[in-house]
Amino acid sequence: MKPDNTQWHTLATADDVALAAYQRILDAALSAIAERGQFKLVLAGGTTPEKVYRLLAQADADWSKWFIYYGDERCLPAGHAERNSVMAGQAFLDKVGIPKTQVFAISAELGPDQAAIQYRQVVKDALPFDLVLLGMGEDGHTASLFPGHQHNSDELVHAVYNSPKPPPERVSISAKALGDARQVIFLITGANKQEAVKLWRSGQDLPVANILSNNVDVYMDRDAYQG
Ligand code: 6PG
Repeated sequence: MKPDNTQWHTLATADDVALAAYQRILDAALSAIAERGQFKLVLAGGTTPEKVYRLLAQADADWSKWFIYYGDERCLPAGHAERNSVMAGQAFLDKVGIPKTQVFAISAELGPDQAAIQYRQVVKDALPFDLVLLGMGEDGHTASLFPGHQHNSDELVHAVYNSPKPPPERVSISAKALGDARQVIFLITGANKQEAVKLWRSGQDLPVANILSNNVDVYMDRDAYQG
């Protein structure tokens, strides 16, 4: 078990959280590209990160060196409005010059098992990630790692069934692989996340608490932090 060295940052508003994450991502990209010639970024799904993606779409960066992965994807038809990759594309990826061959979508339309098998090789070739962006659900889930779900902890990518958050079938990078990253940043905003934040900070064994990287930063707004 790695020591818990999570750094907690409480900012006034959701916009402040997005700005802080945006800056951290650009800084991480500059360092990664300077040191290793590439920047391997894992995008979060859900709605919270959209503000960050819209800021990134306006940024001036060496996009030719960026490599994009997804922490999870919903098993919906390709192009479906509810897919995490569609949101990221509309808010960010369709507006910058990252080569399409460097954006690694999860083929979730194939169903959980097939898509997980395929994405395992992608993740294996990518590790370690430079920066992993994650959200958190009201139950303390992250990516598509849900409380009470059993997975083979050695897997790099899981097939997910019976997700309590629709749709029921998903694909998720595993806690092990998400933690194999130089930096992990959680974005958590809104009063509806207060209870899960409180449980996490009190040591509850939630999926968010199992992403064990050397550098984990949680950026939350005042509404999400009970104080
Ligand atoms: C998804 C996400 C999920 C999300 C959290 C938070 O597919 O929905 O991967 O893990 O990050 O549920 O969602 P919000 O940002 O919309 O609150």
